[in-house]
Amino acid sequence: MMQDLAEILFSAEEIAARVKELGNQINKDYEGKELIVVGVLKGSLMFMADLIREIKVPLRYDLIAVSSYGASTSSSGIVRIIKDIDVSIQNEHVLIIEDIVDTGLTLRYLITTLSSRQPASLKSCVLLDKPSRRKTEIAPDYSGFVIPDKFVVGYGLDYAQRYRQLPMIAALKPEVYSTEKNSGKEEN
Ligand code: IMP
Repeated sequence: MMQDLAEILFSAEEIAARVKELGNQINKDYEGKELIVVGVLKGSLMFMADLIREIKVPLRYDLIAVSSYGASTSSSGIVRIIKDIDVSIQNEHVLIIEDIVDTGLTLRYLITTLSSRQPASLKSCVLLDKPSRRKTEIAPDYSGFVIPDKFVVGYGLDYAQRYRQLPMIAALKPEVYSTEKNSGKEEN
């Protein structure tokens, strides 16, 4: 697995330190409020698990799964919900937790869909932000790290469902994914 990595972008320690900072910011911003945290499967699993343990305001969490169609290292923008959240978010303060915002199309879809359910507020928190690839004008409210246009894996992020268990975030060697087929269903 390690031989497929081109470079390590963030170590486990750097991620933990940044997650703590994000937690502190969220604690300030939501003081006196209650949160519903919506984690986007599968990539946000580790980020969400670590982040919510830094959050001191009362919260409930739920999970949503979406899929997009297109090449497996780039998103087509056609998004649909595979597994919806179970809780009602009407009049609740909702925070979406995503692993990475790339073209922005997935996050845009989630924001549009969840805001139609009339939450009291809706914000997004992403671990990684790749602004250079944006296809829609969207900026996450909280972002862990801004990264260049590299395909990254680890800490929940995958290529073809693999590498999620790596404790660090690393860029994958282009030759590992350059043989990909340009069609088919991709689960996030
Ligand atoms: P977007 O709709 O293009 O913003 O893509 C969001 C989804 O694409 C993320 O939730 C990831 O599942 C996936 N994705 C985008 N870039 C990467 C990457 O560098 N590594 C792993 N997954 C990625």
